[in-house]
Amino acid sequence: MSSTRSKLIELLSENEQKYISGQQLSNELNISRSAIWKHMNELKKDGYEIEGKARKGYRIISYPNKLSENTVQWGLSTDWLGKKIYHREVIDSTQLLAHQLALDGAEHGTIILADEQTAGKGRTGRPWQSNKSQGIWMSIILRPDILPYLAPQFTLLTATVLAEVLDGFAEITPHIKWPNDILINGKKISGILTEMQAEQDRVLYVVIGIGLNINQTEDDFQQHLATKSTSLKMETDRNWSLLPIIQQIIHIFEQKYELYMELGFSKVKNDWEKYGFKINERLQIKSGKKQWEGLFLGIAEDGALLAKNDNGEIEKIYSAEIAWF
Ligand code: BTN
Repeated sequence: MSSTRSKLIELLSENEQKYISGQQLSNELNISRSAIWKHMNELKKDGYEIEGKARKGYRIISYPNKLSENTVQWGLSTDWLGKKIYHREVIDSTQLLAHQLALDGAEHGTIILADEQTAGKGRTGRPWQSNKSQGIWMSIILRPDILPYLAPQFTLLTATVLAEVLDGFAEITPHIKWPNDILINGKKISGILTEMQAEQDRVLYVVIGIGLNINQTEDDFQQHLATKSTSLKMETDRNWSLLPIIQQIIHIFEQKYELYMELGFSKVKNDWEKYGFKINERLQIKSGKKQWEGLFLGIAEDGALLAKNDNGEIEKIYSAEIAWF
Protein backbone atom coordinates (compact mmCIF):
# COMPACT_ATOMS: atom_id res chain seq x y z
CA MET A 1 0.00 0.00 0.00
CA SER A 2 1.32 3.49 -0.76
CA SER A 3 2.71 5.05 2.38
CA THR A 4 0.61 8.22 1.93
CA ARG A 5 -2.50 6.17 1.71
CA SER A 6 -1.71 4.04 4.74
CA LYS A 7 -0.77 7.17 6.73
CA LEU A 8 -4.08 8.73 5.69
CA ILE A 9 -6.02 5.70 6.92
CA GLU A 10 -4.03 5.74 10.11
CA LEU A 11 -4.85 9.42 10.74
CA LEU A 12 -8.52 8.89 10.01
CA SER A 13 -8.73 5.90 12.30
CA GLU A 14 -6.93 7.64 15.14
CA ASN A 15 -9.63 10.28 14.94
CA GLU A 16 -12.56 7.95 14.41
CA GLN A 17 -15.15 9.91 16.40
CA LYS A 18 -13.93 13.37 15.35
CA TYR A 19 -13.54 15.13 12.04
CA ILE A 20 -10.07 15.84 10.81
CA SER A 21 -9.75 18.84 8.54
CA GLY A 22 -8.46 18.71 4.99
CA GLN A 23 -5.86 21.29 5.97
CA GLN A 24 -4.57 19.22 8.86
CA LEU A 25 -4.35 16.12 6.66
CA SER A 26 -2.58 18.08 3.98
CA ASN A 27 -0.04 19.38 6.55
CA GLU A 28 0.57 15.99 8.11
CA LEU A 29 0.93 14.18 4.81
CA ASN A 30 2.67 16.98 3.00
CA ILE A 31 0.39 16.78 -0.04
CA SER A 32 -2.14 19.21 -1.53
CA ARG A 33 -5.79 19.28 -0.52
CA SER A 34 -6.82 18.15 -3.97
CA ALA A 35 -4.50 15.15 -3.61
CA ILE A 36 -6.26 14.37 -0.31
CA TRP A 37 -9.59 14.52 -2.07
CA LYS A 38 -8.35 12.08 -4.73
CA HIS A 39 -7.12 9.67 -2.06
CA MET A 40 -10.50 9.85 -0.31
CA ASN A 41 -12.23 8.86 -3.53
CA GLU A 42 -9.86 5.93 -3.93
CA LEU A 43 -10.61 4.81 -0.39
CA LYS A 44 -14.34 5.02 -1.05
CA LYS A 45 -13.87 2.85 -4.14
CA ASP A 46 -12.20 0.27 -1.90
CA GLY A 47 -15.25 0.20 0.34
CA TYR A 48 -14.31 2.66 3.10
CA GLU A 49 -17.26 4.79 4.10
CA ILE A 50 -15.97 8.31 4.66
CA GLU A 51 -18.02 11.34 5.57
CA GLY A 52 -16.81 14.72 4.36
CA LYS A 53 -18.35 17.87 5.87
CA ALA A 54 -17.77 21.45 4.87
CA ARG A 55 -15.70 23.38 7.45
CA LYS A 56 -15.30 20.26 9.60
CA GLY A 57 -13.35 17.82 7.47
CA TYR A 58 -13.37 14.07 7.13
CA ARG A 59 -14.42 11.20 9.36
CA ILE A 60 -14.27 7.48 8.79
CA ILE A 61 -17.59 5.73 9.32
CA SER A 62 -16.88 2.15 8.42
CA TYR A 63 -14.16 -0.02 7.03
CA PRO A 64 -14.52 -2.20 3.97
CA ASN A 65 -15.43 -5.81 3.95
CA LYS A 66 -14.07 -6.42 0.49
CA LEU A 67 -10.70 -8.13 0.38
CA SER A 68 -7.83 -6.28 -1.18
CA GLU A 69 -4.15 -5.85 -0.40
CA ASN A 70 -5.03 -2.57 1.33
CA THR A 71 -8.00 -3.70 3.36
CA VAL A 72 -6.16 -6.71 4.72
CA GLN A 73 -3.11 -4.68 5.56
CA TRP A 74 -5.01 -1.96 7.30
CA GLY A 75 -4.97 -2.54 11.04
CA LEU A 76 -2.30 -5.25 10.88
CA SER A 77 0.31 -4.66 13.51
CA THR A 78 2.62 -7.52 12.63
CA ASP A 79 6.36 -7.10 12.27
CA TRP A 80 6.94 -9.17 9.17
CA LEU A 81 3.94 -11.33 8.30
CA GLY A 82 1.74 -9.79 5.61
CA LYS A 83 4.04 -6.85 4.89
CA LYS A 84 3.58 -7.90 1.28
CA ILE A 85 0.16 -9.21 0.26
CA TYR A 86 -1.02 -10.33 -3.16
CA HIS A 87 -4.78 -10.49 -3.59
CA ARG A 88 -6.52 -11.98 -6.63
CA GLU A 89 -10.25 -12.11 -7.29
CA VAL A 90 -9.89 -15.38 -9.18
CA ILE A 91 -6.87 -17.63 -9.37
CA ASP A 92 -6.16 -21.28 -10.13
CA SER A 93 -4.52 -21.86 -6.75
CA THR A 94 -2.85 -19.50 -4.29
CA GLN A 95 -0.28 -22.27 -3.74
CA LEU A 96 0.82 -22.08 -7.39
CA LEU A 97 1.27 -18.32 -7.30
CA ALA A 98 3.07 -18.62 -3.96
CA HIS A 99 5.60 -21.08 -5.42
CA GLN A 100 6.16 -18.83 -8.41
CA LEU A 101 6.68 -15.78 -6.21
CA ALA A 102 8.93 -17.67 -3.81
CA LEU A 103 11.11 -18.88 -6.69
CA ASP A 104 11.31 -15.27 -7.86
CA GLY A 105 12.61 -14.26 -4.42
CA ALA A 106 9.45 -13.17 -2.54
CA GLU A 107 10.25 -12.22 1.01
CA HIS A 108 9.59 -14.22 4.17
CA GLY A 109 6.02 -13.52 5.33
CA THR A 110 4.52 -12.79 1.90
CA ILE A 111 0.81 -13.67 1.76
CA ILE A 112 -1.33 -14.63 -1.22
CA LEU A 113 -5.11 -14.43 -0.93
CA ALA A 114 -7.87 -15.12 -3.40
CA ASP A 115 -11.64 -14.67 -3.37
CA GLU A 116 -12.02 -17.77 -5.52
CA GLN A 117 -9.81 -20.66 -6.67
CA THR A 118 -10.60 -22.60 -9.81
CA ALA A 119 -8.08 -25.36 -9.08
CA GLY A 120 -7.68 -25.31 -5.29
CA LYS A 121 -5.28 -28.03 -4.13
CA GLY A 122 -5.83 -30.30 -1.17
CA ARG A 123 -3.53 -32.92 0.32
CA THR A 124 -2.59 -36.05 -1.62
CA GLY A 125 -3.62 -34.50 -4.92
CA ARG A 126 -7.25 -34.00 -3.93
CA PRO A 127 -9.06 -30.86 -5.16
CA TRP A 128 -10.08 -28.23 -2.63
CA GLN A 129 -13.43 -26.58 -3.25
CA SER A 130 -12.95 -22.81 -2.99
CA ASN A 131 -16.18 -20.98 -3.85
CA LYS A 132 -16.12 -17.25 -4.39
CA SER A 133 -15.90 -15.26 -1.14
CA GLN A 134 -17.32 -18.12 0.92
CA GLY A 135 -14.08 -18.96 2.64
CA ILE A 136 -10.50 -17.96 3.28
CA TRP A 137 -8.11 -19.22 0.62
CA MET A 138 -4.65 -18.15 1.56
CA SER A 139 -0.99 -19.13 1.20
CA ILE A 140 1.93 -17.93 3.31
CA ILE A 141 5.54 -17.95 2.12
CA LEU A 142 8.09 -18.62 4.86
CA ARG A 143 11.85 -18.84 4.75
CA PRO A 144 12.68 -20.53 8.05
CA ASP A 145 16.19 -21.45 8.95
CA ILE A 146 15.39 -25.07 9.84
CA LEU A 147 16.27 -28.52 8.59
CA PRO A 148 13.86 -29.85 5.94
CA TYR A 149 12.64 -32.78 8.04
CA LEU A 150 11.13 -30.31 10.54
CA ALA A 151 8.91 -28.56 8.00
CA PRO A 152 5.83 -30.74 8.73
CA GLN A 153 5.80 -29.15 12.19
CA PHE A 154 4.49 -26.01 10.50
CA THR A 155 1.33 -27.90 9.62
CA LEU A 156 0.72 -28.61 13.29
CA LEU A 157 1.63 -25.04 14.23
CA THR A 158 -0.82 -23.68 11.64
CA ALA A 159 -3.53 -26.00 12.93
CA THR A 160 -3.13 -24.53 16.43
CA VAL A 161 -3.37 -21.02 14.97
CA LEU A 162 -6.64 -21.83 13.22
CA ALA A 163 -8.11 -23.65 16.21
CA GLU A 164 -7.31 -20.72 18.47
CA VAL A 165 -8.73 -18.16 16.04
CA LEU A 166 -11.98 -20.11 15.60
CA ASP A 167 -12.22 -20.67 19.33
CA GLY A 168 -11.87 -16.92 19.90
CA PHE A 169 -14.39 -15.83 17.30
CA ALA A 170 -17.34 -18.08 17.96
CA GLU A 171 -19.03 -20.25 20.53
CA ILE A 172 -17.70 -23.40 18.99
CA THR A 173 -15.15 -26.00 19.96
CA PRO A 174 -12.63 -26.76 17.24
CA HIS A 175 -10.63 -29.97 17.20
CA ILE A 176 -7.49 -30.78 15.28
CA LYS A 177 -7.44 -34.11 13.52
CA TRP A 178 -3.83 -35.16 13.05
CA PRO A 179 -2.06 -33.79 11.20
CA ASN A 180 -3.91 -31.07 9.40
CA ASP A 181 -7.70 -30.97 9.57
CA ILE A 182 -9.72 -28.67 11.77
CA LEU A 183 -13.05 -30.20 12.70
CA ILE A 184 -16.15 -28.84 14.34
CA ASN A 185 -18.65 -31.36 15.61
CA GLY A 186 -16.73 -34.00 13.70
CA LYS A 187 -16.95 -32.21 10.33
CA LYS A 188 -14.09 -30.57 8.47
CA ILE A 189 -14.04 -26.77 8.46
CA SER A 190 -10.43 -26.25 7.44
CA GLY A 191 -7.47 -27.93 5.82
CA ILE A 192 -3.80 -27.08 5.67
CA LEU A 193 -1.37 -27.92 2.90
CA THR A 194 2.33 -27.49 3.65
CA GLU A 195 4.69 -27.62 0.70
CA MET A 196 8.37 -26.79 0.45
CA GLN A 197 11.43 -26.52 -1.70
CA ALA A 198 14.56 -27.74 -0.01
CA GLU A 199 18.07 -28.91 -0.49
CA GLN A 200 19.36 -31.80 1.57
CA ASP A 201 20.17 -29.74 4.64
CA ARG A 202 18.45 -26.44 3.93
CA VAL A 203 14.89 -25.25 3.45
CA LEU A 204 14.67 -22.80 0.56
CA TYR A 205 11.10 -21.87 1.35
CA VAL A 206 7.88 -23.27 2.77
CA VAL A 207 4.40 -22.47 1.49
CA ILE A 208 1.56 -22.98 3.92
CA GLY A 209 -1.85 -23.17 2.30
CA ILE A 210 -4.89 -22.53 4.46
CA GLY A 211 -8.44 -23.24 3.38
CA LEU A 212 -11.10 -22.20 5.89
CA ASN A 213 -14.81 -22.57 5.17
CA ILE A 214 -16.71 -19.52 6.37
CA ASN A 215 -20.05 -18.70 4.74
CA GLN A 216 -21.06 -21.85 2.89
CA THR A 217 -24.39 -23.52 3.48
CA GLU A 218 -24.74 -27.28 3.08
CA ASP A 219 -25.94 -26.83 -0.53
CA ASP A 220 -22.76 -25.01 -1.49
CA PHE A 221 -20.61 -28.10 -0.99
CA GLN A 222 -20.19 -30.65 -3.74
CA GLN A 223 -22.21 -33.76 -3.06
CA HIS A 224 -19.34 -35.97 -1.91
CA LEU A 225 -18.22 -33.32 0.59
CA ALA A 226 -21.62 -32.27 1.91
CA THR A 227 -21.86 -34.80 4.74
CA LYS A 228 -18.24 -34.39 5.84
CA SER A 229 -17.79 -30.62 5.58
CA THR A 230 -18.94 -27.66 7.56
CA SER A 231 -18.49 -23.89 7.66
CA LEU A 232 -18.47 -21.24 10.36
CA LYS A 233 -21.90 -20.13 9.16
CA MET A 234 -23.33 -23.65 9.36
CA GLU A 235 -22.06 -23.97 12.92
CA THR A 236 -23.22 -20.57 14.15
CA ASP A 237 -26.23 -19.68 11.97
CA ARG A 238 -24.88 -16.31 10.89
CA ASN A 239 -22.74 -14.75 8.19
CA TRP A 240 -19.17 -13.74 8.97
CA SER A 241 -16.86 -11.08 7.52
CA LEU A 242 -13.70 -12.68 6.24
CA LEU A 243 -11.47 -9.68 6.90
CA PRO A 244 -11.19 -9.72 10.73
CA ILE A 245 -10.72 -13.48 10.70
CA ILE A 246 -7.90 -13.22 8.15
CA GLN A 247 -6.24 -10.48 10.18
CA GLN A 248 -6.48 -12.51 13.35
CA ILE A 249 -4.96 -15.55 11.62
CA ILE A 250 -2.05 -13.37 10.51
CA HIS A 251 -1.51 -11.92 14.01
CA ILE A 252 -1.64 -15.23 15.84
CA PHE A 253 0.45 -16.95 13.19
CA GLU A 254 3.25 -14.45 13.59
CA GLN A 255 3.22 -14.81 17.40
CA LYS A 256 3.24 -18.59 17.32
CA TYR A 257 5.87 -18.75 14.60
CA GLU A 258 8.21 -16.56 16.64
CA LEU A 259 7.73 -18.65 19.77
CA TYR A 260 8.38 -21.78 17.75
CA MET A 261 11.59 -20.43 16.24
CA GLU A 262 12.74 -19.32 19.68
CA LEU A 263 11.66 -22.24 21.86
CA GLY A 264 11.17 -25.16 19.50
CA PHE A 265 8.17 -27.44 19.18
CA SER A 266 7.22 -27.91 22.84
CA LYS A 267 4.75 -24.99 23.01
CA VAL A 268 3.14 -26.07 19.73
CA LYS A 269 2.78 -29.57 21.15
CA ASN A 270 0.96 -28.22 24.22
CA ASP A 271 -1.35 -26.05 22.13
CA TRP A 272 -1.99 -28.92 19.76
CA GLU A 273 -2.90 -31.31 22.56
CA LYS A 274 -5.40 -28.80 23.89
CA TYR A 275 -7.37 -29.20 20.68
CA GLY A 276 -6.29 -32.72 19.68
CA PHE A 277 -9.15 -34.84 18.38
CA LYS A 278 -9.89 -38.15 20.10
CA ILE A 279 -6.74 -38.46 22.15
CA ASN A 280 -6.92 -41.71 24.17
CA GLU A 281 -9.40 -43.26 21.77
CA ARG A 282 -8.89 -46.16 19.41
CA LEU A 283 -7.98 -45.36 15.85
CA GLN A 284 -7.30 -47.05 12.57
CA ILE A 285 -4.05 -46.24 10.79
CA LYS A 286 -3.40 -46.76 7.12
CA SER A 287 0.16 -46.18 6.08
CA GLY A 288 1.20 -47.51 2.68
CA LYS A 289 0.01 -51.11 2.49
CA LYS A 290 -0.07 -51.54 6.24
CA GLN A 291 -3.32 -51.10 8.13
CA TRP A 292 -3.67 -51.56 11.88
CA GLU A 293 -5.58 -50.41 14.92
CA GLY A 294 -4.37 -48.91 18.15
CA LEU A 295 -4.81 -46.34 20.87
CA PHE A 296 -4.13 -42.72 19.94
CA LEU A 297 -1.80 -41.30 22.59
CA GLY A 298 -1.24 -37.78 21.24
CA ILE A 299 1.80 -36.35 19.49
CA ALA A 300 5.50 -36.83 20.12
CA GLU A 301 8.10 -34.16 20.86
CA ASP A 302 8.65 -33.82 17.11
CA GLY A 303 5.00 -33.79 16.03
CA ALA A 304 4.70 -37.44 14.97
CA LEU A 305 1.51 -39.25 15.88
CA LEU A 306 1.92 -41.66 18.81
CA ALA A 307 -0.16 -44.80 18.85
CA LYS A 308 -0.01 -47.92 21.00
CA ASN A 309 -0.56 -51.14 19.08
CA ASP A 310 -2.36 -54.12 20.56
CA ASN A 311 0.95 -55.68 21.63
CA GLY A 312 1.49 -52.67 23.87
CA GLU A 313 4.24 -51.16 21.70
CA ILE A 314 4.25 -47.45 21.01
CA GLU A 315 4.73 -46.49 17.39
CA LYS A 316 5.60 -43.11 15.92
CA ILE A 317 3.81 -42.27 12.69
CA TYR A 318 4.89 -39.51 10.35
CA SER A 319 2.52 -39.98 7.47
CA ALA A 320 -0.72 -41.92 7.36
CA GLU A 321 -4.45 -41.78 6.83
CA ILE A 322 -6.23 -41.91 10.15
CA ALA A 323 -9.77 -43.03 10.89
CA TRP A 324 -11.71 -43.38 14.12
CA PHE A 325 -14.47 -45.77 14.94
C1 BTN B 1 -6.46 -30.34 2.74
O1 BTN B 1 -7.10 -30.47 3.78
O2 BTN B 1 -6.45 -31.24 1.89
C2 BTN B 1 -5.66 -29.09 2.53
C3 BTN B 1 -6.47 -28.01 1.86
C4 BTN B 1 -5.70 -26.73 1.62
C5 BTN B 1 -6.49 -25.72 0.82
C6 BTN B 1 -5.82 -24.40 0.70
S1 BTN B 1 -6.85 -23.13 0.08
C7 BTN B 1 -5.51 -22.05 -0.08
C8 BTN B 1 -4.35 -22.87 -0.60
N1 BTN B 1 -4.40 -22.94 -2.05
C9 BTN B 1 -4.64 -24.16 -2.48
O3 BTN B 1 -4.75 -24.49 -3.68
N2 BTN B 1 -4.76 -25.01 -1.44
C10 BTN B 1 -4.58 -24.34 -0.18
